[in-house]
Amino acid sequence: MDNLAAYYAKRATEYERIYAKPERQSDLSALRARVGGMFAGRSVLELACGTGWWTPVLAQGAARVTALDLNEEVLAIARTKDLPSGKVEFVRGSAFEIPDFGRRHDALFAGFWWSHVRLEELDAFLASAVAAVAPGSLVAFLDNRYVEGSSTPVSRRDAQGNTYQLRKLADGSGHEVLKNFPGTGELIERASRCGTDAHVELLEHYWLLSLRSRA
Ligand SMILES: C[S@@+](CC[C@H](N)C(=O)[O-])C[C@H]1O[C@@H](n2cnc3c(N)ncnc32)[C@H](O)[C@@H]1O
Repeated sequence: MDNLAAYYAKRATEYERIYAKPERQSDLSALRARVGGMFAGRSVLELACGTGWWTPVLAQGAARVTALDLNEEVLAIARTKDLPSGKVEFVRGSAFEIPDFGRRHDALFAGFWWSHVRLEELDAFLASAVAAVAPGSLVAFLDNRYVEGSSTPVSRRDAQGNTYQLRKLADGSGHEVLKNFPGTGELIERASRCGTDAHVELLEHYWLLSLRSRA
């Protein structure tokens, strides 16, 4: 298992504290409404679902949700969420090797995953994600904007332009975590290589990219 996955396995029980930051509440309630509505009636493949904070939001309007994560530690928490019965299936697996679901989903969502994909691997990841769902699917990625005073500072930038943060867990352990903060231009450019109708919505703390898949 790579560093990122091991870090999130260890962070599982304290992960949702990030959603309690007071200055982010107004954005989060706007996003819950936005994300909850945009997948109405669709069959959604959620990548890197983590503790399932967004899964009930997706499931409220969607026809079905398949939620995938590499770590059993976070999936165990996600399974305890209040979810409409029979609509949601949790699957253990990698976002880089998406299991073959027969392209039965017509939507894809990933929250706070884009920022953890190396820049040099992003186009390949996006192509494979888009190829895992039906042509013409609604695809959306939600992630953080860098906000001074609210975001963990960037500690270093590597030769490829990837940025990193030094994070601490409750047990005092320190972890260097890949965390990229793409601008709107980069999001649109990358999205336009694998889809059409790319659109970015900017909130104070977050960005939401949506596109229609081409492959
Ligand atoms: C920042 S969290 C996002 C969790 C959730 N989507 C959310 O928005 O709250 C990143 C998640 O990626 C998962 N993860 C790490 N490597 C992965 C991989 N290769 N494939 C799928 N999930 C992975 C971690 O277990 C963690 O749950």
